[in-house]
Amino acid sequence: MKRTKIIDALQRTDYGSDITVMGWVRTKRGSKSVNFIALNDGSTIKNIQIVADADKFDEELLKQITTGACLKCEGKLVESIGSGQAAEIQAESITVFGSCDSDYPMQKKGQTFEYMRQHAHMRLRTNTFGAVMRIRHNMAMAIHTYFHEHGYFYFHSPIITASDCEGAGQMFQVTTKNLYDLKKDEEGKIDYSDDFFGKQTSLTVSGQLEGELGATALGAIYTFGPTFRAENSNTPRHLAEFWMIEPEVAFIDLDDLMDIEEDFIKYCVRWALNNCKDDLEFLNKMIDKSLLERLNSVINTDFVRLDYTEGIRILQQAIKDGRKFEFPCNWGDDLASEHERYLVEEYFQKPVIMTHYPKKIKAFYMKIDEQIPELDGIQQEQTVQGTDVLFPQIGEIIGGSVREESYDKLMGEIKERDIPMKDMWWYLDTRRFGTCPHGGFGLGFERLMLFVTGMQNIRDVIPFPRTPKTAEF
Ligand code: 4AD
Ligand code: MG
Repeated sequence: MKRTKIIDALQRTDYGSDITVMGWVRTKRGSKSVNFIALNDGSTIKNIQIVADADKFDEELLKQITTGACLKCEGKLVESIGSGQAAEIQAESITVFGSCDSDYPMQKKGQTFEYMRQHAHMRLRTNTFGAVMRIRHNMAMAIHTYFHEHGYFYFHSPIITASDCEGAGQMFQVTTKNLYDLKKDEEGKIDYSDDFFGKQTSLTVSGQLEGELGATALGAIYTFGPTFRAENSNTPRHLAEFWMIEPEVAFIDLDDLMDIEEDFIKYCVRWALNNCKDDLEFLNKMIDKSLLERLNSVINTDFVRLDYTEGIRILQQAIKDGRKFEFPCNWGDDLASEHERYLVEEYFQKPVIMTHYPKKIKAFYMKIDEQIPELDGIQQEQTVQGTDVLFPQIGEIIGGSVREESYDKLMGEIKERDIPMKDMWWYLDTRRFGTCPHGGFGLGFERLMLFVTGMQNIRDVIPFPRTPKTAEF
């Protein structure tokens, strides 16, 4: 089928030429003598206007052209006066591929996002979700291009795994066992020896551990794949299935790591500004009026690099000055999102890369700091070279660290945290056979999408969200 995509049709100026477009009807309006059809084919947020004179078309055919119907339209490209675009089409022939029943769920404008989530199979045809999905594609391209241009290799870490990288125990099990008839040992524990893999396996929470094997052979790698977390977090920032980008690089220290994090995020945001203009302008108008300003400000600002202990000092001072928070923030506490947002949105008004977190709130693989920090003259506890990148509106967008490269120190952590050794031997081999300083981070793809689109809920930046109690579509 020869057709012109609407994105290209709108660029053309060879008025008078024949043209064929295909797409879905957004609106139809007009009078007895002429119909104006706004057609969209997903190639752009913009519609092309089709002018169909009533006397040229069968009344029955015109009746089938309702919102949501799918058409082929052949006609002449003409210069437009009224449609807001340069070109429109004077229709000569229209074929209805598919009429649209009157209970089409995306019929009305201005539906709530909640409603659209319940009809996620059709919401992709709306302006907002079209824009979000085109931007999502562009962000994936930006990510691959960034790493390719900087000499990283795309590395495929497994999705099924027998180890819990983050040690948080939030994994979805993978099994072919008959759940109605589970074999158990004397202690009542499930015996996995007859399961598909002969051991207990799950969907991965992170590709990092295998990523480290890649980086300590290839120098610099990145993973980009689906990640699964069975945390019961019903928040606008958590998904049970999300996509994560995890670069891992040999021979870097904490400063290098932060430089990469900052450069990489800015590159992605710049890519969106350069390549997704129409969609961003639409979202800026319809979703968040400060979106473009925020995106431009991030690429033009140096991120703050803030020690955790200093962050706690600032927060405690704010409390002394009368700022109220719901959760406490004493040294050793994991910061709540309200604390992160205070630092980013109020105190610094810039993205913050926070470092040197207490060891006990971070994962086992992070490099242990030599020095123990002091707060108000009191010595605190051990810290690690972890970094969280905190963003306005989003909170944590990146989590990463320099890795503990010393076999003995890493073993110490594994023992202290009771991590089953039998699952970790292969990881520990990186520290036995030519260990090296290295580090990396994980960027939550949908968190980046939230930032770049200005959407408020993470369920609205992925085509088919997976969250507690929802796995429809
Ligand atoms: O901070 P996290 O847990 O770090 C890791 O998984 C490390 N292994 C990464 C690494 O160093 N290679 O997760 C990284 C990022 C978070 O900062 C957040 O953006 C995102 O992944 N993330 C989620 N996004 C959506 N839904 C969830 N449930 C998420 N959990 C983490
Ligand atoms: Mg984290």
